[in-house]
Amino acid sequence: MIPLSEPAQQGRELEYVTDCLQSGWVSSNGEYIGRFERALAAYVGVGHAVACNCGTSALHVSLILAGVRANDEVIVPAVTFIAPVNAVRYVGAFPVFVDCDEYCGMDAAAVRRFLAEECAEADGIMTNRTTGRRIAAVIPVHVFGTPVDMDALLDLADEYSLAVIEDASEALGSSYKGRRCGGLAPLGCLSFNGNKIVTSGGGGAILTDDNALAQGARSLTTQAKEAGIEYIHHTVGYNYRMNNVLAALGLAQLETLDERVATKRANFAEYERALGEAGASRLLQQPAWSDANCWFYAYQCTDAPAKDGLLRACLAADIQARPLWYPNHLQTPYMGMQAYQVERALWFYERLVNLPCSVTLTRDEIARVVAVIRASDPRSLARGRGV
Ligand SMILES: Cc1ncc(COP(=O)(O)O)c(C=O)c1O
Repeated sequence: MIPLSEPAQQGRELEYVTDCLQSGWVSSNGEYIGRFERALAAYVGVGHAVACNCGTSALHVSLILAGVRANDEVIVPAVTFIAPVNAVRYVGAFPVFVDCDEYCGMDAAAVRRFLAEECAEADGIMTNRTTGRRIAAVIPVHVFGTPVDMDALLDLADEYSLAVIEDASEALGSSYKGRRCGGLAPLGCLSFNGNKIVTSGGGGAILTDDNALAQGARSLTTQAKEAGIEYIHHTVGYNYRMNNVLAALGLAQLETLDERVATKRANFAEYERALGEAGASRLLQQPAWSDANCWFYAYQCTDAPAKDGLLRACLAADIQARPLWYPNHLQTPYMGMQAYQVERALWFYERLVNLPCSVTLTRDEIARVVAVIRASDPRSLARGRGV
């Protein structure tokens, strides 16, 4: 079987985890948490990283730190893994869905139109004219590791007084105009889930340059306990901290991130080459501002029947391939919530198939996948790219 995205241990994982176990510090204290956090902060180029037990909890805490409250609204992409959307509901706020651009990332122009046409500003507060709720924040997500147009979104956030929480869960190792993803907004979030470019088995992190936000993140992820031996809590906190064993694993993985990114990019180029030889590549491309980690390879089929055919052909050939996430505004918990002119999301859903992308992928395996594509969707190969 060729897996979609399998974890790979290529560095000092065993050594660090063994050392951690032998030290006896397996829980939320221990040197690996601090080492992992410092290495993460240095890699992304921010002042602080706060390691969490998953990316979803990092998003939840970031929303609280950004001041998002019950009955506020948060602008989110229709196309993303659902975690950031769910996190909005954890704080009692409501998502407003916007469409993606031709790279599958949040469309900054659509956000601008939504704010300009659907919202009104009074006393520095943006209110959605349809729902009467305050628009508090926006969550750009770097889908498949490809950076969204952050400058455009940060400018909008500035103009309309919105908080920005950058969901860089899929984009560790990617850069936007030469700046590392995860450090582009006041709050950034990462995930170290098993399919990510760096995994700790499960985990996440909050990234920030702001001392007070970092302190708030440390407090909220550890039940908001005051310092000292007494159990004093002035706020509702959460048990969201990463443990030392997982930090040991994450640190070892992070040390090989540059090689992982290089391999991902080389494999993307190999898919392009092999698909090109077979007709024309239809892998989702990158915008000019992006230097992506090439985390996922999204292949664009001609139409929905071709996509279903390719998914079936991959299954039969023992190749793990997956469709795009079903658009979030059409998911049961979010039906009826506002989706602003969302069209392209569905178009992509009907056509995209994610191909195997592990760092362990071999040239032969890529050739096998391309052969299945060629046999199952010959029309798309003949037609060339066409977003
Ligand atoms: C874009 C995005 N945001 C958030 C998450 C949630 O991270 P976790 O699974 O670590 O909770 C993921 C993936 O898992 C993701 O891909």
